[in-house]
Amino acid sequence: MKIVILAGSPNRKGSSNLLADCFRQGAEEAGHTVEIIDAAYADIHPCTGCIHCGYEGPCAQKDGMERIRPAILGADMLVFATPLYYYGMSAQLKTLIDRFCAFNGSIQRRHMKSALLAAAWNDDSWTFEALEAHYKTLVRYLGFEDMGMVLGAGCGTPSMTQHSRYPQQAYQLGNRLK
Ligand SMILES: Cc1cc2nc3c(=O)[nH]c(=O)nc-3n(C[C@H](O)[C@H](O)[C@H](O)COP(=O)(O)O)c2cc1C
Repeated sequence: MKIVILAGSPNRKGSSNLLADCFRQGAEEAGHTVEIIDAAYADIHPCTGCIHCGYEGPCAQKDGMERIRPAILGADMLVFATPLYYYGMSAQLKTLIDRFCAFNGSIQRRHMKSALLAAAWNDDSWTFEALEAHYKTLVRYLGFEDMGMVLGAGCGTPSMTQHSRYPQQAYQLGNRLK
């Protein structure tokens, strides 16, 4: 499978990227190809809502999405990797997802697989409730097949994350993919 990870943390060596790297290692060892798109440092501007694209067509904005769009449409699986920011995904990742607007139907028709990797400081039982609900709604709307979630509670720093069970979970999620 061709897997694209959409990474949404501004911390290049942070916790969610650590989970993404472990997932990548597992998936590559299982024979998949993995590309990481760094949404935090890509040249991606917020959707202006102009609907010049008609929800399926060229976007009026000419930026990094011109390269990212074909990468996404060529993928069999999308992985969303994000820090938890105010109980949702990071704005960096959401900005990229909003730009799906210009190729929404194409994404839906591909019936891609998907997964969620997330890191948060807190470890209350409800820490990931809102993010999980959002992700599951995206899966439903975009016609994805959910392959799993790694919800790294208590992963407030890379050191906390390294000492948690979540890097291994991320590796296994990638490695178990058929
Ligand atoms: C702007 C901001 C908002 C945050 N909001 C939350 C939150 O709502 N809940 C939580 O548990 N942690 C929150 N955190 C902590 C991060 O999710 C946590 O430190 C995470 O490990 C950062 O991941 P990263 O290293 O991949 O950037 C927040 C951090 C920042 C900078």
